[in-house]
Amino acid sequence: MPSPGPSGLAAGRAAEAPDDAELLHESLGALSGHEAEIVERLFDLFFERHPEVRELFGEHSINEREEMVRETLVSVLAHAEDEPWLDGNLIAMGRSHAEYGVEGRSYPDFVVSMLDTLDEVSAPGWSPEVRAAWERALGRITDVMRRAGDEHGGA
Ligand code: HEM
Repeated sequence: MPSPGPSGLAAGRAAEAPDDAELLHESLGALSGHEAEIVERLFDLFFERHPEVRELFGEHSINEREEMVRETLVSVLAHAEDEPWLDGNLIAMGRSHAEYGVEGRSYPDFVVSMLDTLDEVSAPGWSPEVRAAWERALGRITDVMRRAGDEHGGA
């Protein structure tokens, strides 16, 4: 039976598929150093596909865009580590995003643009299996933000 990958962790249990937390950890490590490229490509793609969201962002809001990507990666890491503070953080961000005028439907759009960006960056070890783990993580993260935004907006 072939080993599932080069990772030291996986090597010890070759017959088992790596779990999402392991895939997320490895891919986050491989993405470090690519943040600037991710910010540039992600917002190009997101604005090109969904021009209506562009006006929600300041024209020169490069710091906010960098922070948004950083916080997305931090949230994926916290999700992989099952950090207890993650949900509270996501709820606060979901509320502030509702105040920026972000609509719930933009979250799945953002997730697809992020996944396609990561496909393009193609860091070592990136694969359809890793993409699927990211899709699950980002889906869960953005669901919490989206629900908090809906409740906040409806209050
Ligand atoms: C995983 C999902 C997301 C995360 C973690 C996230 C995180 C962040 C963070 C950390 C900031 C910096 C300011 C702040 O703390 O509020 C920010 C700003 C912002 N985000 Fe997000 N965001 C996400 C998704 C989205 C989506 C889907 C939209 C839809 C358009 C959006 C629109 C904005 C806007 C308009 C700003 C303010 C930009 C400005 O001031 O120019 N975000 N985001």
